[in-house]
Order: sequence, then C-alpha cells, then structure tokens
Amino acid sequence: MKKQIKNNVSWVGKVDWELLRFHGDDYSTHKGSTYNSYLIEEEKTVLIDTVWMPFAEEFIANLQKEIDLNKIDYIVVNHGEVDHSGSLPALMKLIPDKPIYCTANAVKSLKGQYHQDWNFHVIKTGDKLDLGNGKELIFVEMSMLHWPDSMASYLTGDNILFSNDAFGQHYATEKLFNDLVDQCELFYECIKYYANIITPFSAILRKKLAEVLSLNLQIDIIATSHGVIWRDDPMQIVEKYAKWADDYQENQISIIYDTMWNGTKELAERIAEGIGLADKDVTVKVFNLAKNDDNDVITEVFKSKTVVVGSPTVGNSVLHSVAGFMHMMKGLRFKNKKAAAFGCYGWSGEGTKFILDSMKSAGFELIDEEGLRNQWNPSESVKEEAVRFGMKIAKA
Ligand code: FEO
Repeated sequence: MKKQIKNNVSWVGKVDWELLRFHGDDYSTHKGSTYNSYLIEEEKTVLIDTVWMPFAEEFIANLQKEIDLNKIDYIVVNHGEVDHSGSLPALMKLIPDKPIYCTANAVKSLKGQYHQDWNFHVIKTGDKLDLGNGKELIFVEMSMLHWPDSMASYLTGDNILFSNDAFGQHYATEKLFNDLVDQCELFYECIKYYANIITPFSAILRKKLAEVLSLNLQIDIIATSHGVIWRDDPMQIVEKYAKWADDYQENQISIIYDTMWNGTKELAERIAEGIGLADKDVTVKVFNLAKNDDNDVITEVFKSKTVVVGSPTVGNSVLHSVAGFMHMMKGLRFKNKKAAAFGCYGWSGEGTKFILDSMKSAGFELIDEEGLRNQWNPSESVKEEAVRFGMKIAKA
C-alpha cells in the first residue's frame, strides 16, 4: 500500500521480513530488509526504483491499485542492482515506451541483466527533470557508491534526497521513518551495512560527501532504498558516514579465531586476558569464526584498532573459516588497523605465518612479525606467554 512521505511523495516498496541472507549468501540480514520504491505525483508522475524480482507481481499489483500505470511519465533508476531494478522487466511489459532516466553505466547493467533495449535517457550530475508545480528532480552521479552505475536524485521544493543504497540499512519495519524505530537496532544495521558494503569506497565517499555538501542543498529527508527514511535530523546519518569514511576505529581489539581441539581457543582467551590486564580502557572481544556470523564479525573488525587472528595449522595453512574471513577483510580494504597472529600446531606449523602474510597483504600493520606459535596443546607456561603476548598487543 502507498504510504505518504511528504506532500505528493509516497513509498510504494516492499518490506521483506523473511530475508535472512542477501547478495546470494554473502551478507546476513538478521532483521530482514526493505526495497524502497517511491512515487512522486506532481504535474508529472515519477516512479523511483522498483523492488526485487521475486516481489515484482505484488509490487505491480499494489502500484496498479494506486495509479493507472499509463500515468507514469518517467521512471528513475538510481541503481541497476537487481534488488531495485528487478521488477522492471514485468513493469516494462505493461508500459514499454516509458522513459527510464539513469546513468550510462546503469544502461550497461540493465541491458546486461535484462537484455532489453528500453527507452533509456542517460543523465549526468546536475541534469534536471521538470516535474511541474515548480518542482524538479536533480541527478547526482554516485559512481562506486557502491556500484559504478549508482546515482542519487534530489527533489526540489520537498527537499528530499533519494540516495538509493547510501545511508541505507537492512532493516525490515512497517514504521517507515528513522524516529519511529529502535535506535540501537537501527544504528547497528547502519554500521554493519557500512562495514560490509561501503568500506572499500570510503575515499570516494569522502570526496562525494564534500561535493554534495558544497551544493548547499537543503535536505529535509533522505529517502534510502533499504530500511528507514531519515526525516528526523537526516544529517545525522551523513555525519556518521563522514566519521566512518575517515578510517574509523574505536578503542577496541578483536580476537578472531577458529580451533580444532581447543588449543588455539585457549590461546585466544589468554591473549584476551593479557590485553585486559594491560589496558583497562580498551574493549576486548573474542569471536570463534565457526560459531559467529561473518558479517557481524566484520562489523567488529570495522570498529577495531587491532585485529588478532588465530588458527591451528591445517594442510600447511589455516582452517577454511579463517582463510575465508581473511579474504573478506582483504576485499574490504580496511585502513589504519594493526594485526597480530597466533595458533597451535602439531607438526609443521605454517598457519601463523600464513595469517601474518595474509594480514600484511590486506593492508594491516603487523605488531609482531613472528606471532605466537605453539606446538601441541598449550602448557601452563605457554598460557602465561599468551597473556604476555596479549599485554604486548595492548601496548602496541
Ligand atoms: Fe540495494 Fe546495491 O543494491
């Protein structure tokens, strides 16, 4: 059902309460998500984005209850990824000639995904679309935030920025607006979204934020494509993004490991003890990768100043959970973080070096070039050594 955002602007999206995994299986969405689509009904009628393909039929049926589809003058595609463009093939079968406004890269992605030659109108930053009643849509390219095709659209008069993925979060709610939901849940999903999706583009984001702020646009509402619409102090999420984009860290050290027979687990806990003894102010958190959600742990890495990674040696390397997690960290291109490594082994013992090499190539500064290696299960003296290793990490 259509829900009013402001004046003649409404939400016509889909709340997906059931969604537990996103981007295939790569992102956990414990709180579901929403696919936000918007309808602007001025002298001209505009549809901004659609919803994910499995909900296309429902989306179109709901839209038809609100308006005659032939009344839509323009379709704006802020981003071609399937969670926002997935209903276009079904929609365009009903209104095949309607113009689609999007970036040149979005044309490539839409053609690549749907193999249709729709009536595309390519926009560049600063291009405007007159909607009548004194209102215009102004387009801003947002390349690499987070795809090369991304853009945002700004509605004058109502001062609404349709930001697409930027400032969004995977959070299912019927409440629609940021001031109506649990703030802890909301900001956790925001930082998780930033940590897992936006981090590699932080440098681009810093420049883009400066560019958008220099336009001096009055922004009363930020209407994202996932989760809540920011109407209460919308600039608070922009300020958070500016902070997160600035190689963010808190006074936190995270110990991340997997274990076979609990020897590496024992080291993890003793290292945590040592950090706690050496620094009473630092937050220490310990995560077994086999038992924790990867995307939640990535969020903790994002908040950490130091990450300590452990694995037993297996097959001259590390456990696959640890290898996969280091692959995720490398792809996210974290900056300004330190690392250390540890692990038990029975025979050859290359695991710790494998971790150190991987963390170095992922851009982490190594605190200790050797790491803490222990053959067989930790003895009492090795446990004490692990406590001292933790103290050294805390002081680094
Ligand atoms: Fe929500 Fe990049 O799609």
